[in-house]
Amino acid sequence: MKLGVNIDHVATLRQARYAGVSTAAVPEPSVLEAARAALTGGADSITLHVREDRRHMQDADAHAVRHEIPLPLNLEMGATPAMLDFARNLHPDFVCLVPERRQEVTTEGGLDVASRPGELRHLVASLTAAGCRVSMFIDPDIAQVEASAAIGAPMVELHTGRFADTAGAEREAELRRLIHAAQCAHKLGLEVHAGHGIRVSSLQLLAQVPHLSELNIGHTIISRAVFVGLAAAVREMREAMDRVFQAG
Ligand code: PXP
Repeated sequence: MKLGVNIDHVATLRQARYAGVSTAAVPEPSVLEAARAALTGGADSITLHVREDRRHMQDADAHAVRHEIPLPLNLEMGATPAMLDFARNLHPDFVCLVPERRQEVTTEGGLDVASRPGELRHLVASLTAAGCRVSMFIDPDIAQVEASAAIGAPMVELHTGRFADTAGAEREAELRRLIHAAQCAHKLGLEVHAGHGIRVSSLQLLAQVPHLSELNIGHTIISRAVFVGLAAAVREMREAMDRVFQAG
């Protein structure tokens, strides 16, 4: 099970104080250092989300990580022509297409692939031609899985946000949705990832979801890093994943 570490919140912390100030002049906290620490802690890839409004990650952050960090780079981005140009210029290894609403604190729902297949098929083809392996960040919904396969995406990232934020019967139902979506995706030849709201305490249940090959985790790792440092926080997650998924 691979661990993609999302370091957006390092940029969020920097922008909380220094939005509008040149990032070259004010490096604190440094996104590049964060990516290095994630590498030291055992991350398999670095994820960052360059938003249309550049609210946290800036273009220069993405380019610095791309050029300095010897790990695969996963760019999360909105499905827009401007972001396609950005990705063509950056050359990330992976692109995860996500929905973007300006007012949301974090990515709230999955991408509605089923409602705009033509536009997304074109985007996936363009990104693939540019050398990026593309995933669709979708709710664990069979219609969205089928639509992702139909437009030629090679991977899906199943949205675990509802699973993470619910309890009891609702959580069980959400786990079943994840299991069915993963089974369906695998049957259609898609690589299956998961992300959003995942914590160490989620791992045991997520081990019931078949065919998962990668988890993308951000907030809980950055939160833990406040107390133990980022490399140690990544290492803790890596070790927890190894315990749960190797045992299973
Ligand atoms: N995957 C995607 C597509 C996301 O948008 C995010 C949040 O930016 C994550 C994974 C990581 O979520 P979290 O920060 O809750 O671990």
